[in-house]
Amino acid sequence: MHKKLYPQIIDALVDKGYIVIKNALEKELVSGLITELKDEKDFTRAGISGAGDLHLDSTKRRDKIHWLDGKTIFQDRYLNFTDTLKEHLNRELFLGLKYYESHFAIYDRGDFYEKHLDAFRNSKNRVVTTVFFLNENWGKSDGGELIVYDKNDNILAQITPELNTLVVFMSEVFPHEVKPTNRKRYSIAGWFRVDRF
Ligand code: OGA
Ligand code: MN
Repeated sequence: MHKKLYPQIIDALVDKGYIVIKNALEKELVSGLITELKDEKDFTRAGISGAGDLHLDSTKRRDKIHWLDGKTIFQDRYLNFTDTLKEHLNRELFLGLKYYESHFAIYDRGDFYEKHLDAFRNSKNRVVTTVFFLNENWGKSDGGELIVYDKNDNILAQITPELNTLVVFMSEVFPHEVKPTNRKRYSIAGWFRVDRF
C-alpha cells in the first residue's frame, strides 16, 4: 500500500476537500477485485434517489451495480481498508462516521452518470465519498472521466478512471459526473455515513 496513505487523505480533506491518489492499494488486492468484478454476477440497474424514493432513470444514470457484502476474500480486504480509513477519519477529523456502503459499478460503452451530489437531499447521511477505479490502460479516447466540480460549477479535476486510482471527497460539497464511456468501465463507489438510513 501507498506509504502514508491515510495521513495523505486526511491532510487533503482538511486542505481542499478532495484527493486523487494513483497506485493507492496493493497489486494483489486490485487484481483480486477485478477478477471478482469481471464475473458480472448479480448486477442490477442502478437507481436514482430523488426526493427520498429510488427510481430508475436512464436519462440521468446508466450503470449496473452490485453491492459489496464482504463475503469474498477481496471484498473483505477492500472493506478492511475502508474500515481503517474510517477509523483515521474519525480520529483525526471527528466525523463520527458509523458505516460504509459500497458497490461495484459497470458502465458499458455509452453509459454515463449525470452531474449529481452523493448526499441525499435533506439528509447528512453520506459524509465522505470514495471512488476506486479498476481499468487497465485507460486512454484519453476511452472517455469515462470522473469530473469533479466546485460549488460554482468550476471544474476542479478531470480524473482518468485508471486502475488503482482512488478518489476521496466530501460528499456534500462536490458535484461530480461520469462522462460517457467508450469502453467498458469498472469502479467501486462507496460512502461513509453517520448512520444506516
Ligand atoms: C456514484 C458515482 C462514480 C464512478 O456512483 O455516485 O459518482 O466513477 N460514481 O463510478
Ligand atoms: Mn456520485
